[in-house]
Amino acid sequence: KFGDGTTIVVLGASGDLAKKKTFPALFGLYRNGLLPKNVEIIGYARSKMTQEEYHERISHYFKTPDDQSKEQAKKFLENTCYVQGPYDGAEGYQRLNEKIEEFEKKKPEPHYRLFYLALPPSVFLEAANGLKKYVYPGEGKARIIIEKPFGHDLASSRELQDGLAPLWKESEIFRIDHYLGKEMVKNLNILRFGNQFLSAVWDKNTISNVQISFKEPFGTEGRGGYFNDIGIIRDVIQNHLLQVLSILAMERPVTFGAEDIRDEKVKVLRCVDILNIDDVILGQYGPSEDGKKPGYTDDDGVPDDSRAVTFAALHLQIHNDRWEGVPFILRAGKALDEGKVEIRVQFRDVTKGVVDHLPRNELVIRIQPSESIYMKMNSKLPGLTAKNIVTDLDLTYNRRYSDVRIPEAYESLILDCLKGDHTNFVRNDELDISWKIFTDLLHKIDEDKSIVPEKYAYGSRGPERLKQWLRDRGYVRNGTE
Ligand code: BG6
Repeated sequence: KFGDGTTIVVLGASGDLAKKKTFPALFGLYRNGLLPKNVEIIGYARSKMTQEEYHERISHYFKTPDDQSKEQAKKFLENTCYVQGPYDGAEGYQRLNEKIEEFEKKKPEPHYRLFYLALPPSVFLEAANGLKKYVYPGEGKARIIIEKPFGHDLASSRELQDGLAPLWKESEIFRIDHYLGKEMVKNLNILRFGNQFLSAVWDKNTISNVQISFKEPFGTEGRGGYFNDIGIIRDVIQNHLLQVLSILAMERPVTFGAEDIRDEKVKVLRCVDILNIDDVILGQYGPSEDGKKPGYTDDDGVPDDSRAVTFAALHLQIHNDRWEGVPFILRAGKALDEGKVEIRVQFRDVTKGVVDHLPRNELVIRIQPSESIYMKMNSKLPGLTAKNIVTDLDLTYNRRYSDVRIPEAYESLILDCLKGDHTNFVRNDELDISWKIFTDLLHKIDEDKSIVPEKYAYGSRGPERLKQWLRDRGYVRNGTE
């Protein structure tokens, strides 16, 4: 465990990710007394900034609801300073090293260094190299956190891994997929393997289909140019949603240790069919029906004839004894009617005869907003009636655990990294297999100009064809979605 005497260096400290996620998470941990004592935090980036400008920038998204937290924010900032320098060459890293040593001299050994790379892919390897060469404190004393994009297809991802592997050991690398830090995603293992009533029915005999959906109520809003080369599949499906799928579908791990869990995730992903264009629906949002919200191509930097995909639904098939024939649907979209991420496990029909047309059971695990788990079930309407209704067993977190603070995903992951726990980070072979599943499809979409995503209105439920497409895959809407 990295304890007292730890320095955390955030590279890319002037960027958006650092401002919106990394520093607020570090502050969240600090506020709750979860960072090592006397930790030093150093921001490193190319931009010229005074210490004051730096503090101003990184504290923009801090949550400080009361005077006490404002005071804590001040204290936190006293422990963080800025070092300006380039990502190539030696000079910047040497200065960074001197700065760290300055702090370390004041603290008893052992000294640890955690490097957080909140960097664009173009400078990523340079930085990993510079850090290793000039700022590396020796084995067992350094960890490096890296963030997506881990390439844009299988070949580029491998290139990145091949560049990184001679520099940093797999045990030192922590690849963030922030969905693995979300409370409900962290709950999946215990839910699945800690409840006999679920684990006993968790297969093709009882489950009809599984949907993992990601819906955002806003468009790319200014990020359209960047998004144009990426699209929703690379942005959230190949990583976040596939990670959720792998935990939902994997076999019982030998233990809940990091390697046992990651072994099972890789195994199940190896049973997933490589995707092709017949397995998907693609969409791109146009203006809202009332014309008030712009379409995707109205965004700055987006060409009028852009074929970028802002909505996708994909049908994945897992060929193993447990799941053969059960559709796993991953779907994600921007500019939809609501913001919601959830898992919906739909069970098979009950045997007909006793009561006709009973709606199917569904287990819904809401990842956000308002974390909850509910089981849709049939029950007799109470009172002097024989009617049946659909009701639910409902575990909504903000009612049941109203006094528990649910941490931000990034807080949880940074803490795991300080502890040296790899469970919720992506291993290199996991990354490889996840790109394998998607690469052919992504290349086809990128290259084949005859593939044009279907338009849907900003604020709608997505492309028209979706409903029928889901029905064709066995999903029965029971009026409660
Ligand atoms: C990021 C994507 O990885 O995840 C964004 O790049 C997306 O486009 C975001 O908005 C969603 O994360 P969250 O935590 O807000 O659900």
